[in-house]
Amino acid sequence: MTLPRPLIAGNWKMNGHVADGTALARAVVAGSAGLAAELLICPPATLIGLVAREAEGSAVAVGGQDCHAKPGGAFTGDIAAPMLKDLGCRYVIVGHSERRTLHGERDSDVQAKAGAALAAGLAAIVCIGETLAERDSGATLPVIARQLAGSLPAGASAATLVVAYEPVWAIGTGRVASVDQVAEVHALIRRELGARLSDGAMVRILYGGSVKPDNAVSLLGVADVDGALVGGASLDAKAFLAIAAAAPARR
Ligand code: PGA
Repeated sequence: MTLPRPLIAGNWKMNGHVADGTALARAVVAGSAGLAAELLICPPATLIGLVAREAEGSAVAVGGQDCHAKPGGAFTGDIAAPMLKDLGCRYVIVGHSERRTLHGERDSDVQAKAGAALAAGLAAIVCIGETLAERDSGATLPVIARQLAGSLPAGASAATLVVAYEPVWAIGTGRVASVDQVAEVHALIRRELGARLSDGAMVRILYGGSVKPDNAVSLLGVADVDGALVGGASLDAKAFLAIAAAAPARR
């Protein structure tokens, strides 16, 4: 059984204009050859077409940061999964904590979006993670299990699903979960995936939350960590590529 390559995904969030986005994508593509990890750039929607052109013919994949649950229609301002596919995306992030918190997305919304992604031929990166209050009250594992169960789309497999564990208190804060905290949650996610999917052992589980070049080796060395979802550091090609270089060839 060959384990999938680690995935290092850059979530640019609402950052980047044409000039700097082009330069950043070009630098990532230029540095991507020969890495053990698969690289993914998720730019803002305005730059997806441009980044896809820069990445054409390279090993760098392109993804969206969100999609609507419906394949089209009267949803002003939203983006449908088939539109992302049409632009050359292979992945879409769903259920990022900023969407859950700032846009009120619930597990059922995330599940519907993930299902739409699969229907469009995209792989869904389903994000889950506990808040600081939930961790402090000892509720981390039940919260993670509940979010995972509620957010997984029907019919997912290792080819179409990536799970990202992102403790909310570690996102953009410079606070990183400890190796033991990451190991505990990833082991739970692995068990839950194994119970739900026939190839749950092969689904990539990413850690996200203040991943930087100086903590990447230890985080990516944890059992059941199959890559990283990188926010801030993905806006710097050198830092992003250094994180990618820290990914081991296989678990
Ligand atoms: P961060 O963001 O790396 O800036 O903490 C991670 C994320 O939001 O995916």
